[in-house]
Amino acid sequence: MSKICVIGTGYVGLVTGTCFADLGNQVTCLDLDPQRINNLLNGQMPIYEPGLEQLVKQNVQAKRLHFTTDYKKALEGIEYAFIAVGTPSGVDGEADLQYVKSSAESIADLVDWPILVINKSTVPVGTGDWVADVIRRRRGDRPLQFSVISNPEFLREGSAINDFMNPDRVVLGSEDRAAADHVAALYQTLRCTIMITDLRTAEMIKYASNAFLATRISFINEIGNMCEELGADVREVALGMGYDKRIGHTYLDAGLGWGGSCFPKDVKALEHMAVLHGTQPQLLQAVMEINRNQRRRAVMKLRKALGSLNEKTIGLLGLSFKPNTDDIRDAPALEIIHLLTNEGAHIRAYDPQAMANAAKVLKNVKLCENPYQVAEGADALLLATEWNEFKQIDFGRVKKLLRQPVILDGRNLWDSEQLKAMGFTYIGIGRGNGK
Ligand code: UDX
Repeated sequence: MSKICVIGTGYVGLVTGTCFADLGNQVTCLDLDPQRINNLLNGQMPIYEPGLEQLVKQNVQAKRLHFTTDYKKALEGIEYAFIAVGTPSGVDGEADLQYVKSSAESIADLVDWPILVINKSTVPVGTGDWVADVIRRRRGDRPLQFSVISNPEFLREGSAINDFMNPDRVVLGSEDRAAADHVAALYQTLRCTIMITDLRTAEMIKYASNAFLATRISFINEIGNMCEELGADVREVALGMGYDKRIGHTYLDAGLGWGGSCFPKDVKALEHMAVLHGTQPQLLQAVMEINRNQRRRAVMKLRKALGSLNEKTIGLLGLSFKPNTDDIRDAPALEIIHLLTNEGAHIRAYDPQAMANAAKVLKNVKLCENPYQVAEGADALLLATEWNEFKQIDFGRVKKLLRQPVILDGRNLWDSEQLKAMGFTYIGIGRGNGK
């Protein structure tokens, strides 16, 4: 059993802390936001993450998991301090490290015993050295025995608990091998590959992994756009490609592209790092441009199908950036709503989990309670997020409710043949052979 403090209770920090507690450790999750900590103490989660509420409850009841805003209390007698605070994008796409810095300074102020400082947040390459420097400067002439370890997370929203408990690999980076071995001990029971490397390499593995996944998606979206002109079906292309073990089938679903709190931020941060250090990230720039374009193409398709978007009503199914999350950060749906509204369209929308978050940012959008209310009087229906509950909606009812039977299936979720047979104008992504 180890004593762990996790600083930051976003989906990474909260899932990490709760899972470490579930493995039998004593964990204190710390956050500056009293409201958030209060809610957690009352069993209210700050995010929708399947299974998290139950796991938090179990571990709080077992007295392994604690929540506080009090840095001193949280760090008392701690061996491992995980920094899992946000690193939002700055104006130029760079990662904003102010919260990482204040966490490191608090550790320096409050800890007088040997401690391992573990960067769980996604931070630019070189940040580990910078955190060590922040701590040393803050300590001045007061000695402190500490090491900084990079331990990037690979958690997907909507499956974060599973991804923590069943990782493909744990990556640890440090200049102090013994320190890395100590952190590795925390993951031993997961029986997975634990890769130990140096700080900068570990930090780069995180960015390179996310950027590569985003590249796969932009790649298949570019192929999909070609398929539309060349009469091929991108779903079948991706299937045929994926049988090649070197390619595989994952992250090859053409659609409205990637969003969320990670890919956009991380790809932009990597591009920024590259340019700042004198290399030209042409591929990353193209990957981002293709992704931006995917949203514009959806609006172009609707405009083409309806003649004009002015004074038309468009119904959107799904607002979260992907299913099984309430996170709408950089969701394709939000940008598409902005573009449609710009052309005079009226919007109706529904999402199974993201309505509360959407209500905070969406003005002049009719927020509905179900897919059928969205379809009421709409000139077209756009599927933006492939939630399970949209898979088998009653299309007969939808058709009666729509003003025009036009469907843009932004995630190739539905059966085009079935919908066409029902008299819908079906528009998919990359479906050039009309199937
Ligand atoms: C991602 C990484 O997968 C995870 O390892 C990292 O720690 C955080 O960022 P996440 O952002 O939660 O996780 O979502 P993910 O499931 O990877 O999907 C990212 C985006 O790509 C979503 O917008 C999704 O809709 C889109 N996507 C995914 C596609 O458009 N096509 C695909 O084939 C797969």
